[in-house]
Amino acid sequence: MCSILGLFSNSDVAPTIVSSLKKMEYRGYDSVGVAIKNESAIQTKKGVGKVNAVNDQLQMDKIGGHVGIGHTRWATHGGVTAENAHPHMCNTDSIGVVHNGIIENYVELREELERNHNIIFKSSTDTEVIPNLLQIFYEKSHDVKRAIMDTVQKLKGHYAFLALFKSGELVGVRNHEPLIVGVSDNDLVLTSDVVGLPENISSVIYLDNNQFVIIKNNQYKIYNFEGHAAQFAIKTIPKSYQNVSKGSYDHFTIKEIFEQPTTILAAGEGDDNNLEKIVEFIRDSDFVYVTGSGTSYHISVIAKYLFSRFAGKKVEHVMASEMKYSSRYIIPNSTMFAISQSGESADILEAVSIGKKKNAQILSMINSRNSSLARESIFTVGLNCGPEIGVAATKSYTSQMAILYKIADKLCDNCLAIDFNTISDAYSKILSDTSKIKELAKNIKDISNLFVIGRGVHYPNAKEGALKIKEITYVHAEGIAGGELKHGPLALMDSSTYVIVINPFDDSYVDNISSIHEIKSREAKIIGISNKYDPSYDYWIEIPTIREELYPLLEIIPLQLIAYYLAIERGIDPDYPKNLAKSVTVK
Ligand code: G6P
Repeated sequence: MCSILGLFSNSDVAPTIVSSLKKMEYRGYDSVGVAIKNESAIQTKKGVGKVNAVNDQLQMDKIGGHVGIGHTRWATHGGVTAENAHPHMCNTDSIGVVHNGIIENYVELREELERNHNIIFKSSTDTEVIPNLLQIFYEKSHDVKRAIMDTVQKLKGHYAFLALFKSGELVGVRNHEPLIVGVSDNDLVLTSDVVGLPENISSVIYLDNNQFVIIKNNQYKIYNFEGHAAQFAIKTIPKSYQNVSKGSYDHFTIKEIFEQPTTILAAGEGDDNNLEKIVEFIRDSDFVYVTGSGTSYHISVIAKYLFSRFAGKKVEHVMASEMKYSSRYIIPNSTMFAISQSGESADILEAVSIGKKKNAQILSMINSRNSSLARESIFTVGLNCGPEIGVAATKSYTSQMAILYKIADKLCDNCLAIDFNTISDAYSKILSDTSKIKELAKNIKDISNLFVIGRGVHYPNAKEGALKIKEITYVHAEGIAGGELKHGPLALMDSSTYVIVINPFDDSYVDNISSIHEIKSREAKIIGISNKYDPSYDYWIEIPTIREELYPLLEIIPLQLIAYYLAIERGIDPDYPKNLAKSVTVK
């Protein structure tokens, strides 16, 4: 989604704002802009494109001034144009605003502002109503705090925004979208994402919903929407979230794929108590709903296979965005296990609020421990995989799966006895030689369709592999349960078709070999991901032999690599896939 950043400092803020926006660009990257207050006015520069390109063109980082705001956009309301890029100024140019989220009643507010105040709108965004409302209210009271309180009364929707006043105040307002205040001796920063914090700042305050902060010079004050001073705690953010960089890798995506031998060992670590509580809740529940979006939804499907197979639990997986359509069937007083890398996806937060209305106990698995979802949960277990910047989830997926296996293992009294060092070693082995996958990517770079099949617990991995391919290569890919091939998809197979078969030597192997014969009879090509060679493979991507039940943890790595190297062959930047954002905080 959009990223917002505000900074007050003793020195010029524009260079830091621009470099922080660059770090947060993975959450939205179709346009960018800054507004900086100097002695007499607020100066704005904005344009379409990624941060570096727009900065090269407009020199945003050269504007002088000690207080300013910036934004990277993922368009929701209004096309991708310079006019629609943030910041947006009020009609008198005295207040600039950057915004993340949606103002649901903006059409009505626009009409009211046009009709009653002769406001002329320059963009087609929902955001532009905010600086104009602020300006109208400020003109009445000449009090920034009052103007904020009056403005939020008018706004409907989920949003966080920053406002920069010509009088020097920098304001941050939070209503259901994340907003963090970073504090140090010389600088005060407002950001939607810890990754955007300047390097010298590690002390933060996570604003609660319906709170706002006013920064004037070196002072900050936090209030609730009623205007009362709010309680807050200062926390220290983990080192791994500071100075996030690609290191020697070409992209964050491949760096994060290669981190997995380490991150798989950290999943859920240090959270033993919470993990035990989650296990207890699941063990004692008659019914468990597991929910998530995108990649996290695929993990929800795996949860069903693992918890029912190893612990005999009744589990239903529900896509977070579909929860509201299933709400009338939700069994009251059940357990809801919410899975999310960011903990900020609007769909998962809505799913959880539906669950709460049915008295569900909310448990969660999250990478961002201070996220909104964490606050909604009675117990949370952390992925501990460090910041994931690549828009396509990779290391967070294997960490989520590792935690599922830990839970399943506890539910079945250690029947799996998993040694994650074996998995980590197997990852290192797969990653130590990617030459076959690179060669495959070269050979198939011009395809327009790719199928991934898997059976049983491998089916959600087939969906996840296909999602990775779609997301970062723009090749149409479908994840299919092997048995379903003959019920439709075989109609699409011919000599130009490639099918990836997730085929570890387990109870799905024999059936997969039958599917392979059906596919080969239509002259399509087979890419087999397996620990066992079969002559029907046109390409064999070998995975190490491990304990049979654990193959889902392994087979996903080659799929991630195929997606990555195919993106490279097709000339696509995998870190910034078109039309996507890392964390989708709107519905
Ligand atoms: C977006 C991302 C996906 C991610 C999904 C859920 O669509 O592009 O990669 O899987 O959101 O995100 P979450 O943070 O809730 O796991």
